[in-house]
Amino acid sequence: MKLQIIVGSTREGRKSLQFSKWITNTAKELKDVNVEMVDLKDFDLPIFNEAVSPRYNPDRKVEGDVKKFLDKIAEADGYVFVSPEYNHSISGALKNALDYTGFELSKKPAAVATHGSVGGARAAEHLKMILSECQAVIVPINLHFNHFIDGNIDEDGNLIKELKELQYGPHTTVNTMLGDLVWYANALKAAK
Ligand SMILES: Cc1cc2nc3c(=O)[nH]c(=O)nc-3n(C[C@H](O)[C@H](O)[C@H](O)COP(=O)(O)O)c2cc1C
Repeated sequence: MKLQIIVGSTREGRKSLQFSKWITNTAKELKDVNVEMVDLKDFDLPIFNEAVSPRYNPDRKVEGDVKKFLDKIAEADGYVFVSPEYNHSISGALKNALDYTGFELSKKPAAVATHGSVGGARAAEHLKMILSECQAVIVPINLHFNHFIDGNIDEDGNLIKELKELQYGPHTTVNTMLGDLVWYANALKAAK
């Protein structure tokens, strides 16, 4: 079972990186799961400009970083998509990356993890709709981190003790979300 944590912010000084590292570190504690953090910043994806929508283009040929990105995400059995909230939606970088997808996410579970002043709640709602159109199966539990990232998650992705011990806090939610993600990934894999 292979899970990927997709880092959906590419800007200088992004907080999504330490947030994603925390989710990745937590996922690495799961049994029998291979976890990889996939950073959109590692791919030079131009603004999508293909003449035909990828899912309606049987003759599609991709190359360069677009191919590298699509081949990478095709490897996973399930995903956590991490997004900041920009102007009440997801980042342009993440939307652009998702516009490139053909059937790489098809019938695979995707969980959504956002942050921002209201835990990225508005971005999360958009992201779930977008991922659904990308043929992914949406994991119902979302992770909305509504604390400041600086001071609560360090550069290496460690959550502070106070939040780790908080009942119904982010530590509980991330574990519930990841547990459900694995459950769906196993169920869907078996069904295939
Ligand atoms: C262009 C832009 C738009 C933003 N819009 C919102 C917003 O609508 N709601 C919100 O809660 N935070 C908003 N923020 C604050 C971000 O959620 C916050 O800066 C967060 O750290 C961004 O994630 P990142 O650092 O990983 O890019 C915005 C930030 C930027 C740069």
